[in-house]
Amino acid sequence: MKLPTMAEVLSAEERQAVLNYTTGCFVLPAHSPHGPKHWQRVRHNGLLLAEATGANRRVVELFAFFHDSCRETDGWDIEHGPRGAELVLAYHAEGLLPASDAELDLLVIACRGHTVERTHADATIATCWDADRLDLPRVGITVDPAYLCTDAAKDVTVIREAEVRALASR
Ligand SMILES: [Fe+2]
Ligand SMILES: [Fe+2]
Repeated sequence: MKLPTMAEVLSAEERQAVLNYTTGCFVLPAHSPHGPKHWQRVRHNGLLLAEATGANRRVVELFAFFHDSCRETDGWDIEHGPRGAELVLAYHAEGLLPASDAELDLLVIACRGHTVERTHADATIATCWDADRLDLPRVGITVDPAYLCTDAAKDVTVIREAEVRALASR
């Protein structure tokens, strides 16, 4: 099935409802480097990249808000991606997820694999993972283009500007 690559972003109401839900599920402190401020920068990065990659912007936004929402610690927590995917499915089961079935599939794959998988052939999933990795300077890690998936994210200006946003958060 071919996805509408330039899917509209979430409506303000959809975005707030998702944020209320994921923030309510988040057990770490609000200032966590994996918390809502990080989610907003991942959204920002992802929507910028989507202009070049053609990523589905609805999936990019939903990934930003769900991907780290089930972290149980800011340290080693290799299972938080799969737990985030399960939270997506739970929200969908309640009939609340503003996404098509095809978008749901992409979102689940993106959340589940975002920490352990290197890259993905699907442009939307690759864009989600790059949007997250571009925010690594917030935890003192310099972005290495070798670990980015898309050409759009490997652009030196894109990396530098994301780094400025990430460092401003500290
Ligand atoms: Fe994560
Ligand atoms: Fe993240």
